[in-house]
Amino acid sequence: METLTILNPFVVGKYVSDKYFCDRMEETAFLTKQVENGRNVALISPRRMGKTGLIHHCFNQSSISEKYYTFFIDIYATTSFTEFVYLLGKAIYEELKPQKTLWKEKFFQIITSLRMGFKMDALTGEPGLDISLGDIQTPQTTLDEIFRYLEEADKPCIVAIDEFQQIGNYEEKNVEALLRTKIQQCKQTMFIFAGSKRHLMSNMFNSPSKPFYQSAVSMGLHPIPLDVYTDFAIRLFEERGKHVDGEVVKQVYETFKGCTWFVQMMMNELFALTAHDETCRIGMFSLAKKNVISAQEDSYKHLLANLPPKQKLVLQAIAKERVARGVTSSAFIKKYNLPSASSVQAALKPLLKNDLVTQQDDAYQVYDYFFAEWLAESY
Ligand SMILES: Nc1ncnc2c1ncn2[C@@H]1O[C@H](COP(=O)(O)OP(=O)(O)OP(=O)(O)O)[C@@H](O)[C@H]1O
Ligand SMILES: [Mg+2]
Repeated sequence: METLTILNPFVVGKYVSDKYFCDRMEETAFLTKQVENGRNVALISPRRMGKTGLIHHCFNQSSISEKYYTFFIDIYATTSFTEFVYLLGKAIYEELKPQKTLWKEKFFQIITSLRMGFKMDALTGEPGLDISLGDIQTPQTTLDEIFRYLEEADKPCIVAIDEFQQIGNYEEKNVEALLRTKIQQCKQTMFIFAGSKRHLMSNMFNSPSKPFYQSAVSMGLHPIPLDVYTDFAIRLFEERGKHVDGEVVKQVYETFKGCTWFVQMMMNELFALTAHDETCRIGMFSLAKKNVISAQEDSYKHLLANLPPKQKLVLQAIAKERVARGVTSSAFIKKYNLPSASSVQAALKPLLKNDLVTQQDDAYQVYDYFFAEWLAESY
């Protein structure tokens, strides 16, 4: 089925199967080993390196899928504890829905606070969960019930919470402590907490004053090694009757420092540009990059249009500089016609917070290489 539906084997934005997933053997083994030994894991890496993919890949391995119930929630867009509980309840129900287990039948018996959401589809006769946020009156009670339910499963459970740092922004203030207490009481439910905001995540798991201190094994994620990725890319081309020069893969990898999302985006486009029986060569690199950038142009414009003017100026200046140092110096301010050092500083804060800019020591960069290039060229 896959060979027919997946026309371009360089998949971006979702997990399909082992076949389209490159390497991560050691990381998968490490993650698996931790949960098999009853340990929670904090998976922390820069954005777009492959955390979410790794979790799905791990869940897809038979050693995990046959022995555990696995659940995945992405809490990036949640802003309250109630929403968190809502998402978790819904994710568990949806995941179990197609499975035939006695445990599934107990969902509404144990999680009584969600019972009003139980609906039979009038057409298909299929049971469903139809709740809205407002239906969760006392999130703590619902959470207690959900945890009790997980602990009564006939197999151990693994719950992955993606973009976990988000709980620090919830309206309610005691969420970390409350969750930590609940999680600590679990005997057969393991947790994977993933996040890209290194400072926030590290602070949550590594500072003694925080509730989650030492409650999970920390794990990072680095770029996939170049030689391994090159073999993967060549195989995917060959399988579809196309060829790729290893030099192209190397150039892509080096340009984007091996960051998985960017590399996959480029390889996807390069694959599309290569005709059957043809070889993808270095000369196609520029066109591929141009195509990737123009496909995103609308979203770049939208993003920029919604940015306060001072942030926009600073973002453009950083993009033009590629790696910008001394951004509050008078030389930099003069060069880019910026209002003042203090306004640069004020603009940097939200730019960093929203992941538009990254900082390493005194060097600033626009996080998204494609966006950076577009900004540098269009303004
Ligand atoms: N091992 C891999 N092989 C092939 N493609 C991968 C691999 N890992 C990730 N990808 C692809 O790279 C992209 C980025 O991966 P993913 O979304 O997992 O990163 P992330 O670290 O969760 O990013 P973010 O911090 O933005 O959530 C995805 O589109 C995914 O399809
Ligand atoms: Mg992710």
